[in-house]
Amino acid sequence: MAWYPPEVVDEVRLRSDIVDVIGSYVKLRRAGSNFLGLCPFHSEKSPSFNVNPSLQLYKCFGCGVGGDVFTFIREYENFSFTEAVEFLAERSGMTISAGEMNEEQRKRESLRNQILEINKKTATYYYALLKSEYGRTGYEYLKNRGLSDSTMVHFGLGFARSGGVEMYKYLKHEGYSDEVLKETGLFKMEEREIRDKFRNRVMFPIMDVSNHVIGFGGRVMGDAKPKYLNSPETKVFDKGRNLYGLNYAKKGKKDAFLLCEGYMDVIAMHQAGFTNAVASLGTAFTENQANIIKRYVEQVLLLYDSDEAGKKAALRAIPILRKAGINGRVVSLAPYKDPDEFIKAEGKEAFEERLSGAVNGFFFEISVLKSGFDLSDPPQRTKFIHETAKKLLVFRDKVERDSYLEAVAAEHGIIKADLKDLVIRYGNSYTEGYQESRETYAERKTREEKQKKGIDYSYRLFLSWLIASPGLYSFIKEDVSAEDFLDETYRKAAGLLFGQLEKGELVPARIIDQFEEVESQSLVAGMFQTEFETKMSPEEREKAFTELVYKIKEYSIERRMRGLTDLNKLQELVKEKKKWQNPGNLHISLKDGERYT
Ligand code: CTP
Ligand code: MN
Repeated sequence: MAWYPPEVVDEVRLRSDIVDVIGSYVKLRRAGSNFLGLCPFHSEKSPSFNVNPSLQLYKCFGCGVGGDVFTFIREYENFSFTEAVEFLAERSGMTISAGEMNEEQRKRESLRNQILEINKKTATYYYALLKSEYGRTGYEYLKNRGLSDSTMVHFGLGFARSGGVEMYKYLKHEGYSDEVLKETGLFKMEEREIRDKFRNRVMFPIMDVSNHVIGFGGRVMGDAKPKYLNSPETKVFDKGRNLYGLNYAKKGKKDAFLLCEGYMDVIAMHQAGFTNAVASLGTAFTENQANIIKRYVEQVLLLYDSDEAGKKAALRAIPILRKAGINGRVVSLAPYKDPDEFIKAEGKEAFEERLSGAVNGFFFEISVLKSGFDLSDPPQRTKFIHETAKKLLVFRDKVERDSYLEAVAAEHGIIKADLKDLVIRYGNSYTEGYQESRETYAERKTREEKQKKGIDYSYRLFLSWLIASPGLYSFIKEDVSAEDFLDETYRKAAGLLFGQLEKGELVPARIIDQFEEVESQSLVAGMFQTEFETKMSPEEREKAFTELVYKIKEYSIERRMRGLTDLNKLQELVKEKKKWQNPGNLHISLKDGERYT
């Protein structure tokens, strides 16, 4: 695995003008100081794909992707970073040579990359076996389950033989050390030897959004236990941060994802044309997965198994989705067990119909709640109504809460006014602290959420402004540090930006390249290209920028105070916070600081 030192990467970037490179893929036209075109990463009729020549960054205001010239090539050509560097070097006629990494870099880079490389080789090997004489039982098993040849190819399905030493021998032959092989999770360390973990199973490679093979699932072809065997977590496989099928689902243009439990469900749905299906794979659905989904869609249809466990899993997932700002609806597959079985038995039209009959997540929660009570028994009925009132408090927005309240009251024959009284009563009993005695739990949540959204926007505005007017840095450098950004990605981006400004250089694209995942690169590209009002007078601009700094500081201090028990520290922070509540403490002169662009 080649590695190119930063100077080489810089040189390649310098010689690969972003407008020129992207322009060879996308028709761009000039729009002010930027260029606009139709986004190649989502389908659109009017252009929202923006290329900024002075920052050498791009950003789609439609689907949110963004990055620098390397990000673009990685995304478009499906290359790794290194491959993108090599590709662009060649394009601009450069001959580059790989450099020497330092010890730490070598270790980190090489382990991750080696695992990915091994996974890829392993997947290719399993895949070849499936089509060979040795893999016949596997191939027939999958055929019998209704998968076409092209579906098997699409998902890279494979076969592991029963011998138990084949993969180990193959990879040793390829030159990998035991030390590295152990880290892949593909082997079992037995007393005196190392053996293949997957034996006599059909194999499902698990890919991340960028199509790296990060792990495997293997299924027995009969009823033996365990039915599925999965790769353990490794340096490249974090189960709670991946969704099976996302590499394909993300390309779709649908406004919802179909979330299910299993490999075969995803595959069966994709084969039937529902290419927006993803699975959380055995592990319980996580907040991380919800946040990943939120990058692509705001709607999820839940297609968990129709058994008790599936129902529980759906009940768990709904609030997690809600918290991420996703509207979850539940699809009933009864009398079939899961999407795979449903589609096989009823076909895709019937499936489509079930999708359109999806039930709102909240109504689903209430109907499950209801099934636990005997409503003909007055005490139980009372209890049900009280529980319903409590549940309604999840809606922080009053209008939203009222409309749910109305619907639920009507559906279950509850007197609306009674339910409303209960909601207010429970709402107030969640009140915290004397200062907020009039603020209900729900209101507090809304306020915090708004604040969080507002602060993210402030961060982006601040960073974009600083990039547009680097001279402002000298006015804030004493006061604002990366630690004031209370989000990992923002903190890292701010730190790198301050580092550049400190040295009097500004190459935003270089910062983008410090983030490994394309997803984070998009996020950072967005932070650097937030549009702000430029038609203000210098005084107004001065005031606006100053307010931004105050807001970031105040929030940062407020958050540091939370949960602090050390009184001295607390007093210090209170003092510091006061300072930031008193305008006039920061003197910014835009005349000196701003480079008007
Ligand atoms: N699973 C697992 N380990 C098991 C059983 C299940 O990791 N021992 C995961 C797999 O990702 C599986 C999912 O949980 O796809 C759902 O399990 P289940 O409903 O039992 O299997 P199905 O997906 O229906 O599998 P199949 O259709 O192949 O029987
Ligand atoms: Mn199944």
